Amino acid sequence: MERAQRILCVDDEDFNLELLETLLVPHGYEVETASDGKAALELLSKKTIDLVLADVNMPVMNGHELCRAVQADPDLRHIPVVMITSLDNRENKLKSMEAGAAEFLSKPIDPAELLLRVRNMLGYRAYEEAFTYLIHSLARAAEANDIDTGNHILRVGEYSALIARELGLPEKYVENLRLQATLHDVGKVHVPSHILRKDGPLDAAEMEEMKKHPGFGALIIGDHPRLESGRKIALCHHEKWDGTGYPEGLKGEQIPLEARIVAIADCYDALRNSRVYKPCYDHAGAVRIITEGDARLKPEHFDPKVLEIFKRVAPQLEALYEKMKDAPPPGGGGTLMIK
Ligand SMILES: [Fe+2]
Repeated sequence: MERAQRILCVDDEDFNLELLETLLVPHGYEVETASDGKAALELLSKKTIDLVLADVNMPVMNGHELCRAVQADPDLRHIPVVMITSLDNRENKLKSMEAGAAEFLSKPIDPAELLLRVRNMLGYRAYEEAFTYLIHSLARAAEANDIDTGNHILRVGEYSALIARELGLPEKYVENLRLQATLHDVGKVHVPSHILRKDGPLDAAEMEEMKKHPGFGALIIGDHPRLESGRKIALCHHEKWDGTGYPEGLKGEQIPLEARIVAIADCYDALRNSRVYKPCYDHAGAVRIITEGDARLKPEHFDPKVLEIFKRVAPQLEALYEKMKDAPPPGGGGTLMIK
């Protein structure tokens, strides 16, 4: 049986918690309670929570701080936080939005509004989760013929999001990039596995085959507006800033920004990963090759601004690599990896 949807209510006043509980429990929701942001975070680290309803003014850690902490944690940021506030003013709403609140409710609580907002938020979340799950499934399907790259596709998404955030891009762009960067190599499903898994460098004809994967990727993703950045990334992640990349030989800002970001993220992870035909590098080795170049790679291949950010966040990239290299893939382990 499916578990009931679980809502964490956070308020320093017991009366308000009891009220929320009284309203939500008869509608089949499970309710957990916490009296401040810190206690809420502790609970979130232990239990699966689907939605947070949080008061703004609380001791120890207020609602805005809680919201920001949820947003900053990769394991929690998918959970919508609804702010409940009696301070129904513009400044407070802007602060809540800035902190990443998904919705607002005003005190005193209107029971009908509360239930509708909760139902809508949980419904929207289910749709978003299904969308994310399918994107990851598509990305994993394309890896079926490839050598075992572990969580390569997910790591590239995380590195790309980190770089985009550091570039000052909006939160929505960052989140979208985190997801759609995972589609960068989806076109490899059309590349014969004897090429993908070859134990040695590719000859000229094999390289030509390999160079078709960006075009195939763009074709597979198609032209749905919701997947526009995924299509750009798949098509352009092997283009190089100095114009020496493929498939089009685009130069500089002709290359979409999301593809310029994914290019460096993909490169870092490929260097870290053990591949049959080349050695894998430790963090310092991979950073050195990207920033100083070697026989194949040149720093001129990358957008200088993105390269600067890469250098700045390199320690965080290393931490992500270490955290994710052995983690089980999402989706209950239903992967298609071939050893
Ligand atoms: Fe690729």
